[in-house]
Amino acid sequence: MNTQLLPASEASCAYAAELLRAGEVVGIPTETVYGLAADALNPQAVRKIFVAKGRPQDNPLIVHIADLSALARLTDCPPALSYRLAEAFWPGPMTMILPKSKLVPTEVTAGLDTVGIRMPSHPAAREIIRQSNPLAAPSANRSGLPSTTEAAHVFADMDGRIPLIIDGGRCTVGVESTVIAVHEDFVRLLRPGGISAEQLQQITRVEIDPGVLHPIAPDQKVESPGMKYKHYSPKANVIILDGSLPEFCSYLRSHPGEGVYAMVFSGEETLVPVPCLSFGRQDDPSEQAYRLFDDLRKADELGAKTVYVRAPEQSGVGLAVYNRLLRSAGFTVIPLKGGRS
Ligand code: TXA
Ligand code: MG
Repeated sequence: MNTQLLPASEASCAYAAELLRAGEVVGIPTETVYGLAADALNPQAVRKIFVAKGRPQDNPLIVHIADLSALARLTDCPPALSYRLAEAFWPGPMTMILPKSKLVPTEVTAGLDTVGIRMPSHPAAREIIRQSNPLAAPSANRSGLPSTTEAAHVFADMDGRIPLIIDGGRCTVGVESTVIAVHEDFVRLLRPGGISAEQLQQITRVEIDPGVLHPIAPDQKVESPGMKYKHYSPKANVIILDGSLPEFCSYLRSHPGEGVYAMVFSGEETLVPVPCLSFGRQDDPSEQAYRLFDDLRKADELGAKTVYVRAPEQSGVGLAVYNRLLRSAGFTVIPLKGGRS
């Protein structure tokens, strides 16, 4: 299959919508990461997403909508809290897990009786949804690889697998949406993302699922199937070093090796004894989120074998950055404090 890459425009969005209405899969920009979209109400189209991405069948997809009336159609008696959250954070990087209506095919929800719904803010995504249907869309990376924050990343992963990618520029958030299960008077944070736990706390009580920061045992039941899988992994071996910059540098000096790279905060590049990538200032988690996946992909382009990463703060969007790094690293964190290096 020939994969076309077109800049977002009125004409290309109309073409994308036409392909989607015809049951094809299209790579679309969103403000978080690029999505691999198909008509959420067309089971055959949805199945094509799983094939293109190589995604495990039991991992459900998020449905993207462009207006609130779709929330009512796709869900069954959502708690009133979901409308308050929608008002506060939509359009934007928040996905609510809610009881599904009969309209949503089981292919989308992987057999669950809930559905994840999000209203993206990217203008091209909104236009394409308006001209087609609600769109099921996972991140547009091949399963297991870092997510795609530029059209070129999508092309690298999906060339020959889908007919069209719409280039809407670099994703401004850079990490995926925050996934929450919405209950009557609290939410459970299943995946941290572009909306922080602190922002959610302005509206309601927030419980953080242990899967956000801890590995899941293979036989453990999880509320969000995505928690079980290896994720966001470049080919390089990612290791988080938790300590100060001097401790980080001294660990690198005492662990030389071929293909060793460091991922450090901006401004630290010249202080580190190995080649490095920087992923934003230490006190700026939004910039770290914006740069994270691109850096992980760059590490592979550079032929890195091992990437030692500075541990980011876990507040605000930093929790999402740390969560993605933990998964890239297969939860390998080496504490440097207390002279363990
Ligand atoms: O920002 C985003 O959310 C991006 C863009 C494209 O919108 N999408 C995205 O999709 O990250 P994906 O498929 O890569 O991640 C969706 C996550 C998975 O961990 C999945 O298990 C979880 O959401 N999820 C989806 N539906 C669910 C449901 N009904 N119950 C529990 N978890 C669900
Ligand atoms: Mg994903």
